Amino acid sequence: MEIKGKKAVVVGGASGMARSSAEQLAAKGASVSILDLASSAGDEVAKSLGGSFFPVDVTDWEGAEQALAGAVEAMGGLHIAVNTAGGGIAKRTLTKEGPHPLQDFQKVIDLNLVATFNLNRLQASHMSKNEPEDGERGVIIDTASIAAFEGQIGQVAYTAAKAGIAGMTFTMARDLGSLGIRVLTIAPSLFSTGLTEGIPDEYADVLTKDAAFPKRMGRPEEYGRLAVAIVETPMLNGSTIRLDAGQRFAPK
Ligand SMILES: NC(=O)c1ccc[n+]([C@@H]2O[C@H](COP(=O)([O-])OP(=O)(O)OC[C@H]3O[C@@H](n4cnc5c(N)ncnc54)[C@H](O)[C@@H]3O)[C@@H](O)[C@H]2O)c1
Repeated sequence: MEIKGKKAVVVGGASGMARSSAEQLAAKGASVSILDLASSAGDEVAKSLGGSFFPVDVTDWEGAEQALAGAVEAMGGLHIAVNTAGGGIAKRTLTKEGPHPLQDFQKVIDLNLVATFNLNRLQASHMSKNEPEDGERGVIIDTASIAAFEGQIGQVAYTAAKAGIAGMTFTMARDLGSLGIRVLTIAPSLFSTGLTEGIPDEYADVLTKDAAFPKRMGRPEEYGRLAVAIVETPMLNGSTIRLDAGQRFAPK
């Protein structure tokens, strides 16, 4: 899909990987709306791109529906969706204090998996109204993690949630194929973003030492570049693409 002239929503776009995606999509001529927490820098980022900001907590299912509808109305349609809002906790299945609290597990599933699916189903519905261009109506990009495949000790809830996102990608691509809507997921290793800014350099070196090359944290613009390539490459569909410098997470 050619990006110029298309309408994009970037969820989590106030920071990190989504922010870079929003910037790169705007630089290629897309209209961009940012959906992010009210407390985020979403307004400032959206303004710098000539777009609009729609504050939302993605775990407010109806609020997310309304924010998305507002963005689509403001732009006059939707072709591209990049979804990164998410995060995890550090808790083992069982500790001396007892079993993993179920409500904590549920919260991580809601924030990552249910919120992503809620947005995806609504994004697909908006995209289905587009006139197809070369058969194509839209592209949805979600965000997992390589923890979906090699979760580290203490990442059980996060792994389950991200594996759910990776797992639904191919099925959703099949569900939406007849409409000309593609679905892909990017699974990053450790990236240098708002989520990881507190990690000291020496610890980041340890966390990336098992990468094949380069042995460093990823840069948000590398995610953005992949997001752009996904949009521009119609043969890419249904895959979860590892963006990880050949890294496999160690147990801890
Ligand atoms: N940074 C990493 O090392 C890394 C690695 C693998 C996967 N990920 C995944 O990438 C995504 C985070 O992106 P990032 O690393 O660019 O982080 P980031 O913190 O820079 O950006 C995340 C954005 O999402 C927003 N957000 C968080 N919770 C939200 C909510 N409930 N509703 C609406 N917006 C919300 C934040 O305000 C922020 O602007 C997450 O899904 C995370 O699991 C990150």
